[in-house]
Amino acid sequence: MNIVVLGAGAIGSLFGALLSKKNNVILIGRTSHVNAINKNGLSIDGKTQLNVNVSAVDSVNSMPFSVDLLIVIVKSYDTKSAIDQAKQIIHDRTVVLSLQNGLDNIKAIEHVVERRQIIAGVTTHGAFFSKPGCIKHTGVGKTVLGELDGESSERIKNIGNIFNLAEIETVVSKNIIKEIWIKAVINSCINPLTAFFGCRNGHLLENPILEKIVENVCEESTSVANAYGIKLSYQDMVNKTKEVIRETSENYSSMLQSVRKGKKTEIDSINGALVNIGRTYSIDVPLNEILVPLVKTFSEQ
Ligand code: PAF
Repeated sequence: MNIVVLGAGAIGSLFGALLSKKNNVILIGRTSHVNAINKNGLSIDGKTQLNVNVSAVDSVNSMPFSVDLLIVIVKSYDTKSAIDQAKQIIHDRTVVLSLQNGLDNIKAIEHVVERRQIIAGVTTHGAFFSKPGCIKHTGVGKTVLGELDGESSERIKNIGNIFNLAEIETVVSKNIIKEIWIKAVINSCINPLTAFFGCRNGHLLENPILEKIVENVCEESTSVANAYGIKLSYQDMVNKTKEVIRETSENYSSMLQSVRKGKKTEIDSINGALVNIGRTYSIDVPLNEILVPLVKTFSEQ
C-alpha cells in the first residue's frame, strides 16, 4: 500500500517506521527530523528496536506514487492547515485516516475531503522524540480503527490487516465515534493534569489528591459525552482511565511534551471542546473549565 504519514511526530514516526517494512511509506515532518532521517535513517528504540530507511519530506509536494492511505497525525490545532496543504495529493480513492487526539478533527478534515473518504482511529501507544531522527517508544498500546458510519467495509478490514502485519496491534470498531469520545474523556483527565503538574502519567495514581481529581474530571467529561448522546458509564470510564494511566505510567503525556517544548497544546480540542459541548447541553464542567486556562498559562496560545 502507498502510505503518506502527515505529521511525523513521535507516534507518526513510530507508525511510519513499522508500516514501512511492508509498504511504501513517505513521512511528512519538520525539516530537522526529515534531514536526520534522510541522512541516517529513522531509529526507534525502547519498546521497539528498529532502524529503517524511510523516505521523509518537509512539505507536501507531488508524491512519487498515488496515495492509497493518508494518515493524518498532526496536532489537532494544525489539522485544518495540514489537510489544506495535503489536498493536492488526495485523489478520489485516497482514504484519509485521522489518528489524532481531540473531538474536532473530522470536522476540520471534512472541509477539504469528502466524508466517504474519511476513516478514524485512536491509539494508546506512547512515544517521544529523543532527537531528530530518533524516537523512543515508551508504551505499547492498542489501536482501534473504524469507518465513520460503523460499516465493516473491505477497506477498513484491509487497513486493519496492514496495521497488524506491521505489528501495530489493531482492531476494527463498529463505533469509532464512541472510541474517539472514550479517548477524549481519558485524555481530558490525564493530559492537562500531567501538563500542569509536570509529572509522568503514573504519578496521577500515586498521589491520592491527584487520583481524586482524575475521578472528578472523568465524571464531568463522561456527563458531557452522555448528554451528547454517546452512552458511557462513569465507572467504566474511571476504570479505563486508570488502566491507561497504569499502562503508560512511565510516559510523559503528549500535552506535557508540548508544554516542555514551549509549544501550543491540544487543550482546546480536548477539555476546551468538552466545555463547549457541555455548555450547549447545560452540563456544569467547572474542573474542565479551569484546566483550559491553567494549561494555557504554560504554553504557546
Ligand atoms: O496524549 C497522550 O499522551 C496519550 O493519548 C496517552 C494515552 C494519554 C498516553 O500518554
